[in-house]
Amino acid sequence: MSLTEGHILNVWIFFSVFLRFGIFTDGQIVYSITEEVNPGTAVGNLAKDFNLNLQDIERRGFQIVSETNRRYFDLNVKTGILLVKDRIDRDEICEQNVKCSLPLEAIVNSPLNIYRFEVNVLDINDNSPIFPTAKTTLNISELAFPGEQFALPSPFDADVGSNSVKSYKLSPNEHFSLDVQSGGEPSVSAELVLQKALDREKQPVIELTLTAVDGGKPPRSGTMQIIVNVEDINDNIPVFSKSLYKARVNENAPPGTSIIRVQASDPDEGVNGEIVYALVNHNNDKHVDSFLIHPETGEITVKGDVDYERKNAVELRVQAKDKGHKPRPALCKVLLEIVDINDNVPKISVTSLVNTVKEDAPIDTMVGMITVTDSDAGKNGQVTLKIQGSASFKVQNSYNNYYTLVVNGPLDRERASEYNVTITATDEGTPPLSSTSVITVHVSDVNDNAPRFPEPVINVYVKENSQIGAVIHTVSAFDPDVGDNARITYYLLESSKSGPVTSMININSDSGDIRSLRSFNYEEIKTFEFKVQATDSGVPPLSSNVSVNVFILDENDNSPLIIAPTYSVHGAENANVLICFTFRGFVS
Ligand SMILES: *[C@@H]1O[C@H](CO)[C@@H](O)[C@H](O)[C@H]1NC(C)=O
Ligand SMILES: *[C@@H]1O[C@H](CO)[C@@H](O)[C@H](O)[C@H]1NC(C)=O
Repeated sequence: MSLTEGHILNVWIFFSVFLRFGIFTDGQIVYSITEEVNPGTAVGNLAKDFNLNLQDIERRGFQIVSETNRRYFDLNVKTGILLVKDRIDRDEICEQNVKCSLPLEAIVNSPLNIYRFEVNVLDINDNSPIFPTAKTTLNISELAFPGEQFALPSPFDADVGSNSVKSYKLSPNEHFSLDVQSGGEPSVSAELVLQKALDREKQPVIELTLTAVDGGKPPRSGTMQIIVNVEDINDNIPVFSKSLYKARVNENAPPGTSIIRVQASDPDEGVNGEIVYALVNHNNDKHVDSFLIHPETGEITVKGDVDYERKNAVELRVQAKDKGHKPRPALCKVLLEIVDINDNVPKISVTSLVNTVKEDAPIDTMVGMITVTDSDAGKNGQVTLKIQGSASFKVQNSYNNYYTLVVNGPLDRERASEYNVTITATDEGTPPLSSTSVITVHVSDVNDNAPRFPEPVINVYVKENSQIGAVIHTVSAFDPDVGDNARITYYLLESSKSGPVTSMININSDSGDIRSLRSFNYEEIKTFEFKVQATDSGVPPLSSNVSVNVFILDENDNSPLIIAPTYSVHGAENANVLICFTFRGFVS
């Protein structure tokens, strides 16, 4: 407000007061001045407004006497003008009161007169809005719904009226806006309103700047930082790094062997993001029971038996759960392939066996069927079968792991009636495992041997006059075959040379005993011969002959007679015999 305007207003007030109270001398004079003007600034002409004579006011001691407000003003006793003496801060003197009037009194002496007047201090926009703190923190759950409101500290502006806070500004952001209430109140307040749902996992802290602007010209402003801490709720499910894990583990791996580590992550905070792993085994599958998962690290280890032959692959279901108040679970699968180890010895089983094989069986005659099994996989289960030693048999692979045992060479029951065939099955593992089985093959007899006499010719010596029916010799043939093939029957065969002998001897067909049918007289017959045939009972039978020469020995049954010895070889023998007998006869 300019001084001229103030003056006109003063005059107007002066007249209105004058008219209301009708007291001229005590008339209320009101000056207006803006705060913070420079010392020396003229406020009003007291002498003129109170009709004082300028010549004697100094002499009469014209002065301001008001105790409290005297310090702000000065009187120029030469001109009668009221001057500003000290800084006037409306905001300090009148605080938030819109009207700020300083009552003042001036006096003159001789005679004493009191003049009362007021100085109205007008506000200027010399203060900025100030927030109680430079920074305020709000904790807001990410569960908060759009539309929810949050109270903010109000700023203070020492100025009043239009110079007080009139509007707010919020730094641009996507989540919050301001709700400003200004229903005719002296100052305007603002609240924070959530516009769009928060997500701690995307932005855990939101920094905003709130600006309060007053209505001055030019306006002044103050700012406050708002830190919004977004509070976590358990709104995220753990997520595995893979939905399907694959791993291999050796069978027979000892308990504690580490296999694989599964990993799930949960972007929530604190316990809402802490994960506990567990194996899900609703069916109480004992294969699953062989494994263990560490609840915190997710490491899967061996716990019990891992046996490829029992199960070559195990599917595990792993659950990851956070530790939130209402935990949220997630599942993944782990496929464990069990790697075979050569831990099974090949098994030999003889499925069918012809217990005996004929000794004349041709090569490749099947003797038995052999099955070899090895429950290991791959090379560990690949088996080769071999025969040890015996060259008389061999194994032939017929199909997969089926083998036949066949004759591989000539057999001879008379040389070996029984074979212990040792079969070795060896797999191709590293190191290989093997097992052996002994198959006893019996060789059955075939009539492949004729009875045999120990010598081709038998000489038999019989005393003359021997008893009728006496056994003069027993022939015996040997047949290495067995049973009927070795059961021998003896027959007499006539010799063409000697003619029929059946009147002289016979033979026991079983025992080979040759008996005389009459008493021989050396003087009548000296020698004869025949053949004996030995025949076995095989089909067909086999036989062999032996020549038997019978010599009759002379007994001393005749008186000695001197005769001229013959010169034949035969004669000489007989003569010797004769001599011998003669000698003996002489002695006896
Ligand atoms: C075969 O084995 C059996 C049993 O061990 C034994 O009694 C027999 O003498 C063996 N045979 C041969 C020809 O080695
Ligand atoms: C045995 O003798 C008979 C009669 O002389 C003859 O027919 C047969 O072939 C002979 N057998 C043998 C094996 O020599």
